[in-house]
Amino acid sequence: MQDLLDKIDKSRMPRHVAIIMDGNGRWAKEKGQDRLYGHFHGVESVRDIVEGAGELGIEYLTLYAFSTENWDRPVYEVTGLMELLVDTIKKEAPDLKKNNIRLHVIGDIKMLPEHARNELVEVMEDMKNNTGMSLIMALSYSSRWELVNAVKNIAIDVKAGKIDPASITQDTLQAYLTTSAFPDPELMIRTSGEYRISNFLLYQLAYAELYFTNVRWPDFRKENLYEAILDYQSRERRFGKISEQVKAEELAH
Ligand code: IPE
Ligand code: IPE
Ligand code: MG
Repeated sequence: MQDLLDKIDKSRMPRHVAIIMDGNGRWAKEKGQDRLYGHFHGVESVRDIVEGAGELGIEYLTLYAFSTENWDRPVYEVTGLMELLVDTIKKEAPDLKKNNIRLHVIGDIKMLPEHARNELVEVMEDMKNNTGMSLIMALSYSSRWELVNAVKNIAIDVKAGKIDPASITQDTLQAYLTTSAFPDPELMIRTSGEYRISNFLLYQLAYAELYFTNVRWPDFRKENLYEAILDYQSRERRFGKISEQVKAEELAH
């Protein structure tokens, strides 16, 4: 693990890493266990990755924990996940606070059970003056929900005369997204061997590097994060330009 860590170029770290934490259910089934057992073990991975990302100096870590579509899962699983959420926030809050982590939530939290929402709001309030890594939990989140909401709110402000439609730019739209306070992720990781985005940060991932691994989320540990970052650092991000231009720009800096 140390050798992987030594290979990472600390001067070329992504500022923002986003992760689709997938594969809990299959991990549990492969062990002959209930799906909730997989979610329970997934919390261990969250703890390890939050710590690892903080140690690397990553500024923003977004974790996709529950999608809008996940509400359609069997009631038993949804209820279990909500209980796990409340228990985990309660248990982890002191450590997060001690580690100077700031907690944010993106998503339709009105959908969450009231006690879960209250717990979250309280913990976020308690950490709002922390200055370390921002941990952004995507809860009851989906990108299409977010974009529709943004359009709705822009329309309301246009109607109220607060915005002139002719002046709408990418910055305007950005300001209406749930992620308005964060830079776009440079790296998106999905575990468990699925090659899709599943309604996650569709707009924000426009130029993100995508990294897919077969490792199931409950098995994902710091060394897997290091591998993803090394892979990211081996890529040339061209943003539509050609390689020679990118190299010249790097030299000029
Ligand atoms: C990810 O694991 C966690 C959530 C979506 C809440 P899954 O529950 O999707 O696990 P698989 O993909 O069915 O294995
Ligand atoms: C995406 O995983 C959502 C989260 C990890 C929270 P899913 O397991 O819900 O996605 P699909 O159904 O495989 O696309
Ligand atoms: Mg899944």
